[in-house]
Amino acid sequence: MTIALDTATMLAQLAQLGAIGHDAGGGRTRLAFGDADKQGRDQLVAWMRDLTLDITIDQIGNIFGTLTGSDPSLAPLMIGSHIDTVINAGMYDGCYGVLAGLAVMRALHSAGMVPRRSIVVAAFSNEEGVRYQPDMMGSLVYAGGMDVADVLNVIGTDGTRLGDELARIGYVGDLRPGAVVPHAYLELHIEQGPLLEAHATQIGVVADLQGISWQQITINGVANHAGTTPLVMRHDAGWAAAAVITFVRQLAQQSGSTLATVGSIQFSPNAINVIPQTAVLTLDMRDPDDEKLTAAEAQVATFLQTLATQAGVTITSQQLVRFPAVHFDESLVATIAQAAHDLGLSQRQMTSGAGHDAQMMARIAPAAMIFVPSQAGISHNPAEYTSDADLIAGATVLLAVVQRLSR
Ligand code: HGY
Ligand code: MN
Ligand code: MN
Repeated sequence: MTIALDTATMLAQLAQLGAIGHDAGGGRTRLAFGDADKQGRDQLVAWMRDLTLDITIDQIGNIFGTLTGSDPSLAPLMIGSHIDTVINAGMYDGCYGVLAGLAVMRALHSAGMVPRRSIVVAAFSNEEGVRYQPDMMGSLVYAGGMDVADVLNVIGTDGTRLGDELARIGYVGDLRPGAVVPHAYLELHIEQGPLLEAHATQIGVVADLQGISWQQITINGVANHAGTTPLVMRHDAGWAAAAVITFVRQLAQQSGSTLATVGSIQFSPNAINVIPQTAVLTLDMRDPDDEKLTAAEAQVATFLQTLATQAGVTITSQQLVRFPAVHFDESLVATIAQAAHDLGLSQRQMTSGAGHDAQMMARIAPAAMIFVPSQAGISHNPAEYTSDADLIAGATVLLAVVQRLSR
């Protein structure tokens, strides 16, 4: 029996969700547990209700919509991703995978099909980790990687306590995270990189995901007059910060596989005529090879020690995230490849450069991902774009894999 995806509704919902949290930069900002995130959550729950799904919320606000199967004794199949965003984000990152999951449910529902195995669509809290670290937080807790109590006490970059914000937006559920261990976990996501487009390929069959290291580096110098302080007398936190940024760029260039990004930096007192007293910067490093990532971390630590002496400043570093590289479930990967092949879609096996909830769910269940191309490889940017044809192709593969796994 062929089941048709209502792709028009999926695309319309993607646009509607993308309009929530619109910001001045032409994108949208729905940072975890903020007002715009609540609006997005409320909209998703309403769409789940329209599909008469059984809706549950867990203790850190992960949202689940379940289509109950004919054999409730079987562990469910879970399709997940996230609907929180970075600052000034695109409209596809995360949202596409959750709404394609709803489209699969809608197709089964419209065809009056009751799958043997229940199917759950999950929207995990705080995948982006911009306001509260670590990222992939909701799925990390779900997979047993962090305690609820610890998460609720995390203080955000804006000084707010996560638990207070979660309560304020009304998404404290009573379900214990991880109470239901899925039979398998699938995540459909935009690639957020240039490879699929560069190879004119429609489907990415994601077999691996690279390791991630986040740290916050604090440099303490001495504020002084920009016009009267000779170079030899300076303890310039700003100059030291610039040296870190240059060093990690050279480290990545020489490595050939490690990526390094200083994405945020704050000076204080941050005044045009004052030598910066402090500089607080974040460093995001990634590598498919965990040993190389560990070596890069060690190189940075050694550099910081030398720099502190040279610049006459003190430098400390706090690790925010360290997630090892993940190898996804080979039989699930093969099922995705077969489904794409049977649908006549071009495909390539690949490693994910971005972090995803799937890397956490892989700790407790067979997990794998399906990618679709990102135009010009752009993401975490309002210019993020994937064509309707590619979005539909990805959702069609997701449906085909779900049907295979539900037999
Ligand atoms: O950082 C990441 O890779 C993901 O977007 N959270
Ligand atoms: Mn994402
Ligand atoms: Mn993202």
